[in-house]
Amino acid sequence: MSPKQPIIWITGASSGIGAELARQLSARANRVVLFARRMDRLTALTDLLPNAIAVSLDLNNPKAIAEIIPQVIDEHGQPDVLFNNAGFGEYRPVAQITEAEHQQIMQVNYHAPASLIHHVLPGMLKANHGHVINIASIAAKFGPWGHGPYAAAKAGLVALTQSLAIEHQGINVHFSYVCPGIIKTEFFDTHGYDTPHMQKQVAKHGIPVDKAVKKMVKLLDKPKLELCVPGHYRMLDFVKALSPSLAMKLVAGGSRPSE
Ligand SMILES: NC(=O)c1ccc[n+]([C@@H]2O[C@H](COP(=O)([O-])OP(=O)(O)OC[C@H]3O[C@@H](n4cnc5c(N)ncnc54)[C@H](OP(=O)(O)O)[C@@H]3O)[C@@H](O)[C@H]2O)c1
Repeated sequence: MSPKQPIIWITGASSGIGAELARQLSARANRVVLFARRMDRLTALTDLLPNAIAVSLDLNNPKAIAEIIPQVIDEHGQPDVLFNNAGFGEYRPVAQITEAEHQQIMQVNYHAPASLIHHVLPGMLKANHGHVINIASIAAKFGPWGHGPYAAAKAGLVALTQSLAIEHQGINVHFSYVCPGIIKTEFFDTHGYDTPHMQKQVAKHGIPVDKAVKKMVKLLDKPKLELCVPGHYRMLDFVKALSPSLAMKLVAGGSRPSE
């Protein structure tokens, strides 16, 4: 990033990874603009972080995005960094997910981040300065059990980031995607993730959120296309290239409920 302190936007800042990004980045930012639906959570953060601004935004509402984002740019300035972090899944097989739920998952995890990119990219390109960091998931690498629409949305977000990175090579506008494995957040408290099997996975493999976010923050100093947390999850690409059926076995073992 440039020596000037950046304006950093974080979606999904009311809990988990987004709230921790706000806490870790506020001191090095000119301001952090925090987006989510739960304003009480955002206000609790802005009370702690003097340069934080809270914006109520439902990413499942494209009209609200189209109205609110240009207002935020006018009022608080063009972002130097955009963390497209907000997201959610429904831990259920595709056959048990309604078409409306499927569309909502795609809207929040894929279309909304894409829409935010359309709003901020022209300003970043004009300034030849900026970084878009899309929080995807390890599910983007191989669709796990109970994650069909979520994995599809995150895989779409990864592919979009890759194209953007290729299209803007060699300039000072960077694009990264993050593939977290299991990070201990409220993500696993609702939407069907609160099963004994999933809770066991979280207890066994879950990474503390502050530790995971520290790695994500490093992307600002050393931009790179892909970050997996934990890093060895990158190996899934190699396993898949070597033997898709072995990759399927491994992913099924971690995601399919045994009981
Ligand atoms: N935790 C993990 O192990 C893990 C693994 C892989 C990927 N991820 C990804 O990491 C990101 C952050 O997740 P997390 O673990 O921090 O989960 P979290 O604690 O549940 O946080 C999710 C955030 O997304 C926001 N959000 C959800 N639906 C929204 C909507 N319709 N409009 C606006 N904001 C919305 C929530 O805010 P409001 O409810 O206040 O709107 C909340 O701030 C997500 O994209 C998730 O898919 C997490």
